[in-house]
Amino acid sequence: MKILILGANGFIGSHLSEAILTQTDWEIYALDLADDKLENCLGQARFHFHRGDMTVEKKWVREHIEKCDVVLPLVAIATPAVYVKEPLRVFELDFEENLAIIRQCVEFNKRLIFPSTSEVYGMCPDQAFDEETSPLVTGPIHRERWIYSTSKQLLDRVIYAYGKHHGLNYTLFRPFNWYGPRLDNVFNPRPGGSRVLTQFIGNILRGENITLVNGGEQKRCFMYVEDGMRALLAMLRNEDNQAYQQIFNVGNADENISIRQLAEILLQKISGYAKYADAVKKVQLVDVDAEKYYGKGYQDVELRVPSLVRIKEKLHWQPEVDMSVGLQKTLDFYLA
Ligand code: UGA
Repeated sequence: MKILILGANGFIGSHLSEAILTQTDWEIYALDLADDKLENCLGQARFHFHRGDMTVEKKWVREHIEKCDVVLPLVAIATPAVYVKEPLRVFELDFEENLAIIRQCVEFNKRLIFPSTSEVYGMCPDQAFDEETSPLVTGPIHRERWIYSTSKQLLDRVIYAYGKHHGLNYTLFRPFNWYGPRLDNVFNPRPGGSRVLTQFIGNILRGENITLVNGGEQKRCFMYVEDGMRALLAMLRNEDNQAYQQIFNVGNADENISIRQLAEILLQKISGYAKYADAVKKVQLVDVDAEKYYGKGYQDVELRVPSLVRIKEKLHWQPEVDMSVGLQKTLDFYLA
């Protein structure tokens, strides 16, 4: 099987490339602006890397959609602070550029495995979000944070319609706060410069205070990236066509913790690394108003728990890595 990964140097793309090379005999054609996360893949015979910008390299992209069997378009902005500060960039890249890729999958009749997101559920009141029954709830237009959620939601709807009316062979997956090595750059000191886990690790390593937005009582289910790779490989294998035209939540409902708890766990774990014990002692947890941290366009999600009924039934998948183990592996990567 030939697989096209756009954005192979990203967090999901780099882990997926590695998982495919070590666990299958498939070929990967990969595109990205950089290759710093791909050191375990570059040079391997089944890994064909092209350095470039998806929005510029249209000819290369088109040729490779035609050449490959499955397309994974993983290029997107996925950091909430950017949704608020540069909403049009999110729309142009996440929505417009990806729509063009989806249309070419329809044109060339290629299988599409597309990253939707847990963010599409927004402020859904359900205790566990179900792919087929939960409402997708976002805020008013001036809350610009929702441009990512709604861009992704409309792509989901477009993909679904292409499936229904043009036979597009797709699988949509919705990651719920995946974390692990290579998530974001912990050395980016900008508040909101990365997702919460890498943001907090960076704060602690620099001995800075940790900012708890609105007190940090909001919760997330964190899932270790290796579990995500097992899910994506199951979708790629597509045994008995069980992933055909399906939407799957991919998360760990058992690891549902508040952002404050996450900060406390990280402080406790990082204090175990002798090199950073002094930095940990300087860190305090400071509550900050969301508007002050992100700006007026922000609105938060208080609870985000995936229902895993469908993915368990269809792909026989469930998360296996406890958060204590996943966090330890992640810290060993960042702190080594
Ligand atoms: C993220 C991103 O939108 C996407 O990467 C992705 O689609 C989705 O989650 C996912 O992985 O499921 P979110 O969980 O809100 O959304 O983003 P984070 O930046 O990781 O923030 C999590 C929580 O921590 C938020 O409530 C935020 O306000 C809080 N936070 C963040 C703090 O309290 N302090 C900080 O310094 C940073």
